[in-house]
Amino acid sequence: MKPPVLLTRKLPASVMARLEASCAVEQCEGDGLAARREFLTRVAGKQALVSMVTDTVDRTVIEAGDALQIIANVAVGYNNIDVAAARERGIIVTNTPDVLTDATADFTLALMLAVTRRLGEGERMLRRGDWKGWAFDQLLGMQLHGKQLGIVGLGRIGRAVAARAQAFGMTIAHTSRSDAGMPLDRLLATSDVVSLHVPLTGETRHLIGQPELARMKRTAYLINTTRGPVVDEAALAWALKNQLIAGAALDVYEHEPQVHADLLTLENVVLAPHLGSATTETRTAMADLAVRNVIAVLGGDPPLTPVT
Ligand code: GLV
Repeated sequence: MKPPVLLTRKLPASVMARLEASCAVEQCEGDGLAARREFLTRVAGKQALVSMVTDTVDRTVIEAGDALQIIANVAVGYNNIDVAAARERGIIVTNTPDVLTDATADFTLALMLAVTRRLGEGERMLRRGDWKGWAFDQLLGMQLHGKQLGIVGLGRIGRAVAARAQAFGMTIAHTSRSDAGMPLDRLLATSDVVSLHVPLTGETRHLIGQPELARMKRTAYLINTTRGPVVDEAALAWALKNQLIAGAALDVYEHEPQVHADLLTLENVVLAPHLGSATTETRTAMADLAVRNVIAVLGGDPPLTPVT
C-alpha cells in the first residue's frame, strides 16, 4: 500500500507525477479558515505533510498528524513550523535551500533598482496620465555604483545578493553570525542600501525598528525579502512618512496579505506580493526537492535537506 501524504497546495504536474508514483496523495482544497479546519482533519493518519510558507504548522497541527514522519516545507524559511514540537515527536522537518537562492537574489536586485530608480512612482505617474514628457530633473533617483550595500545576514542568499551588487559597482558591508562582520549599528549608519537576509527567529523579530531606522542615513534605502516581522512595519511606515530614510522596497509583510495602511499611500516604497522565489523554474525545483525529501524519508532513507 502506498503511504498517505497530504499536500496543502497543488504542485507542478511533473512533481505530482513523481509523488503519486510512490505515495497516495491527498490535497487540501479550502482557503483561509476553512483550510485550517480541513488541514487539521486531513493531516490525521498521513505519513507526510507537504506545507507552504502560508501554512501554520503549529503544535495543534503536529499533534493532529498522529502518523507523520516528515513535514516537507516548500520554502527555505521554516518559521511557519513549530520545529521543536515536531522534533519531540520524532518528525523530520525539511526545507528547500539553494534551489531558490538565485531567484531570490535576482528579485532583491529588482527591488533595489526599482526603489532607487523610482520605477513604481514613474509607472504610477504614467498610468495616471500625468506624464507630460521627458524632463531633465524628472524622478531623479540614486545610482548604485560606488555606494555601500549593507547585507544583514550573509548566508546563501546574502552572498548571492553581494555578488550581483558587486557587478553593479557597489561595495559590500555585512553582518554575520559566523565570521567577523560589521556590527549592525555601524552597518546601518554607513550603508546607502540595507538588505535583510536573516531568517525570522525569536532574535530577529523586529530587528529593524524605530531606533535602527533612525540610525540609517536619510539618503538610504531598506530592502526586505526575508520575512515581514524582521521589520517593525509601523515603525518603517513612520520613518518613510517622515523621510528619515529615502525609501524602502518590501516583498514580505508582518501580517500577509495585509499591508500597513500608510505604506499603501506612500510614494517612496515599492511593494511586492511575496514574489522572491516566484519563477517557474525555481518553484518547480522547490516542489521537486520537497517531494524528494518525502520519498526519501518514507522509503527509510535520510532526508536530503533537513532543518538543523
Ligand atoms: C519563501 O518565502 C521561502 O522561504 O522560501
